[in-house]
Amino acid sequence: MDPHVLPILKCPRCGASGEFDGASAGTSAVGCGRCDLVLDAGRGFYDLLDVSARGEPAATTAEQRFMESALVARAYERVWRPTFVRMFAGRGAGAAVGGFAGEMFIHKNALSLDDRDGPWLDLSCGPGLFTRAIAATAPGALVVGLDISRAMLEVAVGRVRGYTNVLLVRADAHQLPFVDGCFDGINNSGAIHAYDDAEQVFREIWRTLRPGGIYVGSTFAEAPTLTGRLAARIAGIRRYDPGELRAQLSRLGFSEYEELRLGGAFVFRARKP
Ligand SMILES: C[S@@+](CC[C@H](N)C(=O)[O-])C[C@H]1O[C@@H](n2cnc3c(N)ncnc32)[C@H](O)[C@@H]1O
Repeated sequence: MDPHVLPILKCPRCGASGEFDGASAGTSAVGCGRCDLVLDAGRGFYDLLDVSARGEPAATTAEQRFMESALVARAYERVWRPTFVRMFAGRGAGAAVGGFAGEMFIHKNALSLDDRDGPWLDLSCGPGLFTRAIAATAPGALVVGLDISRAMLEVAVGRVRGYTNVLLVRADAHQLPFVDGCFDGINNSGAIHAYDDAEQVFREIWRTLRPGGIYVGSTFAEAPTLTGRLAARIAGIRRYDPGELRAQLSRLGFSEYEELRLGGAFVFRARKP
């Protein structure tokens, strides 16, 4: 593991901040200096979801069960994502920005990727679509891709090969395994509708951002068609009222909230003062 990463890790077992040490556990593994947790990246990602105490997390929605499937993870970028964006946000959403290139353009500018040093967190990265794009745009910065789904990370491992500035970790967004104030920006595309307790995730985002750090996310506001609304309901996808999201983030202390509507979806940006 890149030695620059060790100081930003927080032990999910004992809560010790920045105590991981490569030397104590050999070269391919890192160990917590305070407790007995050892992390091994043999599979290409560090598993920071400490399941010894609470077991494997149960997927609480139909959507999340799909996210745990190896088949969906492999087909996610080419088939699943474009199909569901069209279904839940309308044809206009993708067309308005010209597909992923346009989406990335919006996120790149919202995160101010060209003007900031990182490190960056791609929270709920899936197979790493944004992780790779951020890593290519900011080659000198550390980019951490985090997801709870083992299947998604296994696909991401193959796709980030060649990006020397990327680290993949498995963890729960509700309990981020990072020290306070370590990220310059957090990208969080297409995921807040999937969390059991989005407010707890926002608190973790706040905690791990530096003062001045930027939070950029995207989610669904409304499904434009009856089929889309029905599919969202079956999948357990919560839709967000942008006004409520703005109020929620500002209650937590975020400022400078802005949003861009793209059909039934929207991209938002807020700053930790
Ligand atoms: C719809 S995908 C979005 C993936 C990617 N950000 C994108 O825009 O293509 C939602 C992702 O959120 C992840 N996710 C759901 N609950 C999570 C949690 N509690 N912690 C971390 N990731 C989670 C899923 O495993 C899935 O990969």
